[in-house]
Amino acid sequence: MFKINENYLKLPGSYLFSTIAKKVAAYSEAHSDKSIIRLGIGDVTQPLAPAIIDSLHGAVDEMAKAETFRGYAPDLGYEFLRTAIAKNDYADKGCEIGADEIFISDGAKCDSGNIQEIFSVDNKIAVCDPVYPVYVDTNVMAGRTGTYDAKTETWSDVIYMPCTAENGFVPELPKETPDIIYLCFPNNPTGTTIARDQLQVWVDYANKVGAVIIFDAAYEAYISEENVPHSIYECEGARTCAIELRSFSKNAGFTGTRLGFTVIPKDLKCGDVTLHSLWARRHGTKYNGAPYIIQRAGEAVYSEEGKAQLREQIAYYMKNAHTIQQGLREAGYTVFGGVNAPYIWLKTPGQMTSWEFFDYLLEKANVVGTPGSGFGPSGEGYFRLTAFGSYENTLAALERIKKI
Ligand SMILES: Cc1ncc(COP(=O)(O)O)c(C=O)c1O
Repeated sequence: MFKINENYLKLPGSYLFSTIAKKVAAYSEAHSDKSIIRLGIGDVTQPLAPAIIDSLHGAVDEMAKAETFRGYAPDLGYEFLRTAIAKNDYADKGCEIGADEIFISDGAKCDSGNIQEIFSVDNKIAVCDPVYPVYVDTNVMAGRTGTYDAKTETWSDVIYMPCTAENGFVPELPKETPDIIYLCFPNNPTGTTIARDQLQVWVDYANKVGAVIIFDAAYEAYISEENVPHSIYECEGARTCAIELRSFSKNAGFTGTRLGFTVIPKDLKCGDVTLHSLWARRHGTKYNGAPYIIQRAGEAVYSEEGKAQLREQIAYYMKNAHTIQQGLREAGYTVFGGVNAPYIWLKTPGQMTSWEFFDYLLEKANVVGTPGSGFGPSGEGYFRLTAFGSYENTLAALERIKKI
């Protein structure tokens, strides 16, 4: 008789966004006259930039001719894309990353979930709290997290690093030494970030204790301040302790098109074994590459035309972020984030819990956001709004919020 992976049964109930969808559907059904504005899920709304569309069309035409048709992609991804990434995202920013240290994938969700596979099951992970849920849940599936305490909503073998207004949403070094540290900056959900010298402290710590940092930089394109690092490799010593995850979803609108990459420097070793060789083995065995046409679309992100168009797209979303921030402040809320990230993290008023505020906002303003507690216990008392809606909807939502 076959047996299942019982770790899956340990995963606590319903997924945050399906709970939200159910609540919104029930409200809509009971109030069909109300128009609901969704500033909840972190999905983009602007179409792909013209330079990307042109590149896609060109690549589709190539696939129609025997001479230019492409089959399986190379294991690590096409050279043209890896070279463009190495130059634009790393060399031009003063980071030493070779094209052969970049692994092209279909997005950061898969990579952030799969990367734990190359580590022993008895490694101890440390995560920020609140956190992008994929890091913890995939470690649960692997059997690395111990038992779940429904009361505290925490796992016995996970080190939680609270990120709250009190510490400026930057975690303190943990008392217990972790083996794998997940960091995400600019952060989802808090919309806040870390200064270069603060990240350097983490790199020094990881090198000292022999931990690896998995640095999720999915939102780096939204950074507007000088002292905020775009990559962990801006820190000295990161090549021996850090893996970086990147996505084309939020900088170029590829949430439905799917493209991302992982960087593993060849200096990152456990004894004599490079993590690069393990991930290359895993990639070669379990993955057959992002489609050629999508990798060509990704290349267009780095063309001069593409860069200019995407700067405008980011500016569009960041204007929304500014509108939300300003509007909330005028309405008397305490607000964080939204300067280097498309997320605004607000303190719920009075003693309201995150879910109470969700209901309040839905009923009084017909606006949907995301309860902070859904991202971890330290998210209780906070609420996330995203800047990914249309400008018109964002303005309308804030007008409604100001009126309640
Ligand atoms: C922190 C973080 N990492 C990764 C992802 C997933 O990115 P992708 O669309 O490339 O899978 C998201 C998506 O919302 C995210 O917030």
